[in-house]
Amino acid sequence: MIYSKITGTGSYTPERVLTNRDLEKIVDTDDAWIRSRTGIQQRHVRAEGQTTSDLALVACQRALAAANLTPADVDLIVVATTTPDMVFPSTACLLQDKLGVTNGTPAFDIQAVCTGFVYALSMADKFVRGGSARCALVVGAETFTNLLDWSDRNTCVLFGDGAGAVVLQPSKTPGIYSTHLHADGRHANMLSVPGAFCAGQANGSPTVKMDGGAVFKFAVKVLDQVCREALEANGLQIADVDWLVPHQANIRIIESTGQKLGIDAGRVVVTVDRHGNTSAASIPLALDLAVRDGRIQPGHKVLLAGVGGGFTWGSALISM
Ligand code: COA
Repeated sequence: MIYSKITGTGSYTPERVLTNRDLEKIVDTDDAWIRSRTGIQQRHVRAEGQTTSDLALVACQRALAAANLTPADVDLIVVATTTPDMVFPSTACLLQDKLGVTNGTPAFDIQAVCTGFVYALSMADKFVRGGSARCALVVGAETFTNLLDWSDRNTCVLFGDGAGAVVLQPSKTPGIYSTHLHADGRHANMLSVPGAFCAGQANGSPTVKMDGGAVFKFAVKVLDQVCREALEANGLQIADVDWLVPHQANIRIIESTGQKLGIDAGRVVVTVDRHGNTSAASIPLALDLAVRDGRIQPGHKVLLAGVGGGFTWGSALISM
């Protein structure tokens, strides 16, 4: 049996930090409200001219270095993003060029908003298990602040920019035990950017619209469900899991999910305070930070769980 295993992680956040106090000067909000309702203290914002593939590039270079590999080893690139550099080519193709991968390696984007990284990991897992790839780069990268209306306090305080990447390689031992993906398009209007380009014009709105309360309830329900699905599929209990790395949208969603699952708060990786919600980047960013600060160790079982626009949700149970 061949599994796919994460052999390196990397991440990157732009240098520019936007604190809650900075936001107080832009929109009618305050630091205490944002902290108490979301747990967010700051977020990173891309530099002028910096694109999603630029952020992804640094995260990938760091992940490859951690795996002792070079771009020449890469034979699959999957980028999860909601904020591509352009309509086409895909951000994955642009990233391939920036990385200097010139061997015709397949590269494509996946759009599942905040569940994007779990979807991308699941796709790459199938390529590696099936023998079609031996060194896959899986990236979640976003310049999500491009989609914000900075006069809408309901949404602009929540999101930030960043990128996280992992290298997946074949292994005789797990590896990724299983992935579980779901979607329900009936909830499209709960969280969306309801705009598109047509004849040189933006039709609809180019910024995020959200029913925060409905998103909150839906997220807590499906994160719990999809984590339990992963545990049941592998005959495991939550006590068998060393770390939960959930999508970083809101500390109250993370805490409620942890409580429903019955996992100790000390075994839940939290970065939402530093990064805000970086959509597809949030899970690999959190994973990389916990690997680099030594919390996640080789052999640890880690449960990844995401939820986002679509609506989409999914989980991955892995051994590092
Ligand atoms: N600063 C100050 N006040 C704000 C505010 C802000 N940034 N944003 C909203 N408010 C106000 C609202 O206007 C409302 O005022 P009102 O009662 O006068 O109408 C008040 O705060 C309470 O709003 P409410 O919606 O009850 O707050 P909440 O506790 O539900 O928190 C969210 C709002 C958005 C933080 C919360 O619903 C949430 O996190 N939802 C999920 C969002 C998410 O994670 N999205 C991405 C998923 S992938």
